[in-house]
Order: sequence, then C-alpha cells, then structure tokens
Amino acid sequence: MMSILYCYRIEETSAMLLRKAFSGGLVVGGTMLSLLLIMVHQLYQPSTFSQGYTSTQPDTLQAGVSNMIHREEQQLRMSTRQEEVTTSRFCIPQKKFVFIKTHKTGTCTTINIFQRYAIYNKLEVLMPVSQGPLSWPFPPEEADYIHTPDGTYDALMHHFVYNKTWLLTKFPPETPYISIIRDPFHHLKSQMNYYHLPMILGIEDSKDAVKTFLKDPWRYRNKSEVFFDHVNVTWDGTRNPLSFDLGWPAEKADKEEEASIYITQLDKEFTLVMILEHLDESVVMLRRLMCWEIRDVVYFLRIENKRYYAFKRYEATPEELDNHRRWSAVDYMLYDTFNKSLWRKIAAQGPDFFDELQYFRRIRVEVSHHCTEMMNTHKNETLTVKESRWSPEFDVDYTYCSYIYSKRVRRLDEVMRGYRITRKELDHSVMDTVINVLLKHKGFPTFKNIQDAHAAGIVGMHTHKIRAVGKYQYR
Ligand SMILES: *[C@@H]1O[C@H](CO)[C@@H](O)[C@H](O)[C@H]1NC(C)=O
Ligand SMILES: *[C@@H]1O[C@H](CO)[C@@H](O)[C@H](O)[C@H]1NC(C)=O
Ligand SMILES: *[C@@H]1O[C@H](CO)[C@@H](O)[C@H](O)[C@H]1NC(C)=O
Ligand SMILES: *[C@@H]1O[C@H](CO)[C@@H](O)[C@H](O)[C@H]1NC(C)=O
Ligand SMILES: *[C@@H]1O[C@H](CO)[C@@H](O)[C@H](O)[C@H]1NC(C)=O
Repeated sequence: MMSILYCYRIEETSAMLLRKAFSGGLVVGGTMLSLLLIMVHQLYQPSTFSQGYTSTQPDTLQAGVSNMIHREEQQLRMSTRQEEVTTSRFCIPQKKFVFIKTHKTGTCTTINIFQRYAIYNKLEVLMPVSQGPLSWPFPPEEADYIHTPDGTYDALMHHFVYNKTWLLTKFPPETPYISIIRDPFHHLKSQMNYYHLPMILGIEDSKDAVKTFLKDPWRYRNKSEVFFDHVNVTWDGTRNPLSFDLGWPAEKADKEEEASIYITQLDKEFTLVMILEHLDESVVMLRRLMCWEIRDVVYFLRIENKRYYAFKRYEATPEELDNHRRWSAVDYMLYDTFNKSLWRKIAAQGPDFFDELQYFRRIRVEVSHHCTEMMNTHKNETLTVKESRWSPEFDVDYTYCSYIYSKRVRRLDEVMRGYRITRKELDHSVMDTVINVLLKHKGFPTFKNIQDAHAAGIVGMHTHKIRAVGKYQYR
C-alpha cells in the first residue's frame, strides 16, 4: 500500500519568527529623493512593480527613481502594444510565472498562493499527471505531465529542479521566476528530520544528531551523498540541498568560485527568491512585483500543527555553525545573496512598503481567524475586506476559506485539474526523494515512480513510517 502525503503536516516554519514584528523601517537617505520617491509611488505605485521582475534591482535611490521612470515608459509602450486594459493603478498583473518549489522550505504554505492564483485566473498549469513533484531531479518526460491542446502553459509550481534551458522551451523568456529558500541551519534540521538522516548517517543518538554531525560533517560525506541510479544523479541531503533544487549539482560542492558566478546569474534570472525567515516581507514583495492583489497573497498560518522533533530547537555553537558554513558553503552563499537581494528590493520600494507590510499582517491574521472559524463551525458568513491603498475590496467567502485552509497540495491540484487523481495516475507519482533515500539505505536501487518500483517488487513504501522500510521485499 502506498501512503505518500505531500505537505500534509505543515511545519511551524516562521510562525515564531513572524511574531517578531519588523523592527524599524529602513533609513532612507536624501530628503528630496525620498520625497520624490514617495510621490512617484503614490502616483504610479504599482506600475513601478509590474515590470520589476526584469533582472537588476536598483542599489541606490537615484537609480531607483530613474529606473521607475524608465519602467513607466516601458509600461506605456507595453500597454499600447498589448492593448491590455490597465487599471486605474497603471499596472498589469503578471499571469504567467514559474515557482520553483524547493524542499523543506515551507512551500506547503506558499504553494497555496500560486495554486489559488492559478485557480482564480484560470491559468494553464504545467502539472504532473499525478500528485507530488512535477519531476525531480530531471525535467519531466512527455508522459509525466498533463499536456494542453496547444502546448503552451501559464504557470509551473510543483517540485522541479531549476533548469532554464528546459523552462525556455515551455515559457516565454520574460516569465517571472520565483522561489523560496530558508536559513541553511534551520534547513539542515528540517532535512535531518524529514529524510531520517540520523539513521542514514549512522548517528546513534538521534536526539543530538545535529550536534554530532556538525562536529565533523566531512566524516559523514559518503553516507550523506546518495546516488540515484535511475537518473545517474548524486544528491546530498546535508550539503547544499537548497542550491541543488536551484540547479547546482552536488558534485560541484567544492567549486565555490564557479558557484558564486552561478548564484549571481540566478539573482538576475529570478524576479524574487523569497526568504522564509522574512516571509511576510517576501510575500508583500511578491504582490508588488507581480502586480497582484492582497487577496492573492494572503496565506494561512497553521500554528496548531507544529511538527516536533528532538533537535528542532537545537542552537548550534559558533564552531558548529562555522563547520556548517564551510560544509554547505554554496547554500550559505545562496542564502546571503538572496537575503541581500530581498532587502535591496525592499529598500528600492520606499517607506510605503512597511505600511503595506503592517496592513498585510493585520489582514492575514483577520482572514486566518475568519477562515478557521468558518471551517470549524461551517458557518457560511462572508467577510469583506475593505479597499486599501494597495488593493481593491475583496470577499473572503466559503470557497476562498476552503482553499486557503487546505492542508494538502493535492486538494487544490484537483481543483485545478477539475477531477480527482485516479489510482492509476497515483502510481505514476514521482517518487518522493525520502523513499529513494530509504531504498538506497536498504541496498535497493532507486526508482522514478511508484509504478516502476512496484514492477521491481518493492512494496510498503512510506515516507513517514520508517519501520515499514523493514518490510520491503525485493525480488
Ligand atoms: C536541462 O534541460 C535540458 C533540455 O531539456 C536537458 O537537455 C538537460 O539535460 C537538462 N539538464 C539537467 C541538469 O537536468
Ligand atoms: C568514501 O568512499 C570512497 C569511495 O567510494 C572511499 O575511497 C573512501 O575511503 C570513503 N571515505 C570514507 C571516509 O569512508
Ligand atoms: C548512467 O550512466 C551510465 C554510465 O555512463 C549509462 O550506461 C546509463 O545509461 C546512464 N543512465 C541513465 C539513466 O542516464
Ligand atoms: C537578511 O538581511 C537583513 C538586511 O541586511 C538582515 O537585517 C537580516 O538579519 C537578514 N536575515 C537573516 C535571516 O539573516
Ligand atoms: C455559502 O453561501 C453562499 C451565499 O449565500 C452560497 O452561494 C454558497 O453555496 C454557500 N456555500 C456553502 C458551502 O454553504
């Protein structure tokens, strides 16, 4: 029997962090310039952002202002060309996007935003034929995804290792790319837990697994690296797993200079890489860059559903952190680059950004509260969120609540498809990496999907029940 639940349990993620409200705004230099910036914002606010996804972000206010004006012109040209109806806000919502869903980064929460956007805007989503990843870690084969009649797509949001060459065959070059990453140390703990790494690495006292591991990560190298036979790909659960999902091969973990060039390139290619530790800021930035509305980016924070594990709260010593920084250097480079990038983008937005951030947090809490109430009591009462400086009025009705409250990625996948995933399709699910890791640990080969594994005689594959692994029969 199969039992793979994607994104069933939501991690505590940033629930705690989010409670720490942002401390103080950014210092904006130059009164004249900031005044001008505010004026430009108020007059043309969203247009500034609608094209904001094109490569570079201004580093200074000066550049920011001229960039805005430049984009304003671009915008005008674009709207004439496309004859798009621009709203009074001078802004064209981006209805195409690629969201690279990384592993163990709270994407069960954030994918909901992209799924809802696709549902409400009737987008053609490049979806796996089954549940789970679109493909991993190679681009999908023809039989792995649902084809549209004309072969064009608006969006992608399921697990897929970033591969620009492949994406360019499916999406126009100006399509915004978005992703999310988190602090590599928090990520390590989450990886350790999810992939059963204490056991895989042979660390006996799993309570202290992170501490033990970080004493000397190099010692565990052979066990941490896993070779997936079915695709000839090496993956390392502790070393640069974030960068791996963004296209950096595990074999190149020591090529830091080359990695730095690659990451600089990613920074140009991605409209936004959100940072889980600054999720609200990231989401507000997403709204602005995509010219979406507040209703599109509200997410539901499930505080009651914390997943506990022994080393979750473990705080590393400076030596351990230093080892981790050296071991997983590319991920730290990635994180530092994109955190800087996020805050540079925020600085370019001006102080109005923080007003919106505050507003967004209030609305998110109100909506979450309303939807919890509605889902628990089945009282069908619509909440109307009044128009604001940043977004038109919107209704939080039963459907909206049921979407935002949904725990499982699969549920909204089925809304997008318009039908339930069949049993046969389920067998085509791309194998969850954790199962391949466990298979490998047992000395079995790895498989692309459940169907192939079944054909080879593998049964009883569970992601969460580790003991079931012992029951595997291989013939
Ligand atoms: C990326 O996609 C291209 C085009 O499909 C493919 O040829 C290439 O092998 C892919 N690269 C990786 C690393 O998956
Ligand atoms: C790791 O594996 C390689 C070859 O697979 C072997 O030569 C090496 O001794 C191993 N290292 C450790 C520390 O076990
Ligand atoms: C993996 O590499 C081996 C040796 O180079 C090759 O024979 C095999 O076809 C490759 N397998 C895949 C799935 O690419
Ligand atoms: C991200 O960068 C900002 C601005 O430099 C900094 O204040 C913040 O602490 C960084 N966040 C993390 C989680 O490192
Ligand atoms: C909720 O109320 C609206 C308006 O009265 C109605 O159209 C809708 O079907 C109701 N939904 C549910 C799930 O009861």
